Amino acid sequence: MTETFNITVEPLGRQVQCRADQDILDACLREGVWLPHACTHGTCGTCKVQVLEGDVEHNDASTFALMDYERTEGKTLICVATPTSDVTLEADVDVEEGVEFHPIRDYTGTVAAIEDCARGTRRLLIDLDQDMVFNPGQYVQVSIPGKGVHRSWSMANPPGEPNRVELQIRNTPGGLATEGWVFKDLAVGDRLQLVGPYGRFFLREARDKPMVLIGGGTGLAPLKSIVRHVLETGLPHRLYLYQGARTEADLYDVDFFRDLEKQFVEQFTYRPCLSDEEVDGYGHGMVTDVVASDFDTCRGHTAYLCGPPPMVEAAIKTLMKKRLFPRDIYREDFFDASDKATGGVRSPLIKTT
Ligand SMILES: Cc1cc2nc3c(=O)[nH]c(=O)nc-3n(C[C@H](O)[C@H](O)[C@H](O)COP(=O)(O)OP(=O)(O)OC[C@H]3O[C@@H](n4cnc5c(N)ncnc54)[C@H](O)[C@@H]3O)c2cc1C
Ligand code: FES
Repeated sequence: MTETFNITVEPLGRQVQCRADQDILDACLREGVWLPHACTHGTCGTCKVQVLEGDVEHNDASTFALMDYERTEGKTLICVATPTSDVTLEADVDVEEGVEFHPIRDYTGTVAAIEDCARGTRRLLIDLDQDMVFNPGQYVQVSIPGKGVHRSWSMANPPGEPNRVELQIRNTPGGLATEGWVFKDLAVGDRLQLVGPYGRFFLREARDKPMVLIGGGTGLAPLKSIVRHVLETGLPHRLYLYQGARTEADLYDVDFFRDLEKQFVEQFTYRPCLSDEEVDGYGHGMVTDVVASDFDTCRGHTAYLCGPPPMVEAAIKTLMKKRLFPRDIYREDFFDASDKATGGVRSPLIKTT
């Protein structure tokens, strides 16, 4: 039987049991001890803690996110670290008013639909065997059959649809899970194992400032969840959604958002943008350039950014020039295995999400 250790989380004073083959974050999130995390694969550094007592294996923490000197100082990344003894750790737990966190759980689902919604992009609808409670913007980890690994994909459906998960997945050339499975063998009716909900990129309902949402590629997914949640539950937030892609063939859900825009004229503005072609009805240029030309200032707004790490970094620079600062910016970087290997670590400019 696998050995189990006691993990004490300071300054909360909470204790959880963690198996020797279980990452510490997983043990905490299952027990409702919410600790900051973003990528959950040892790449972004958000889950870094100080080990005060005991020993851990760092496993495959990126050497960019957890430097050698930090390992010597007793730091670790709990999304990949496993205990080899009882452990006491100190985490940077930020308390946010009006935010409710939901414990992660294991789910089984059945693929109900697969749609090629844009070039190299698939939408999956997965029916869950039991409801999942989550915040709009969060993600799930899906086990890749026969590979012993999982991949993170954001939920595009709102929490009001708790028994069905919509995923929007971009094909990554050479990608184990995408080219090697989702775009190859995966079929309607297949059974899947999922774990969630993860992440701290989600709507802060209590903050009722106008929101600028910027998504690149499938970075649209969590933003769709947020937009639908706000509009379908009658929340008051004013929404400006920017969707960036290279060409019209790379965009999806355009009609869906245009219909929403007609329905919520006063509350919702939708701006699809194309960087590589000029087409009537679309913003032209990098999505960040279109945002920059639309807003004289972003002061007094909040922003939600999601997509490839370079797009997220560019969006932060644009927003800061427009007088929006880190405390009002939430980000989700779609880090993948190449970022882990090459050090696609977030800018130290901003710590929020
Ligand atoms: C929080 C979060 C949410 C996400 N949500 C979404 C989403 O909603 N939709 C979406 O499309 N994606 C999303 N992603 C990205 C997703 O998790 C996967 O990373 C992506 O789908 C690629 O998976 P893959 O297994 O196909 O590629 P991988 O096999 O992981 O490979 C990715 C790339 O890295 C290269 N690579 C692999 N190993 C190495 C190595 N050792 N050194 C250098 N390069 C290497 C591969 O050739 C490939 O180009 C999200 C990521 C995060 C962190
Ligand atoms: S959440 Fe652990 S390194 Fe990103």
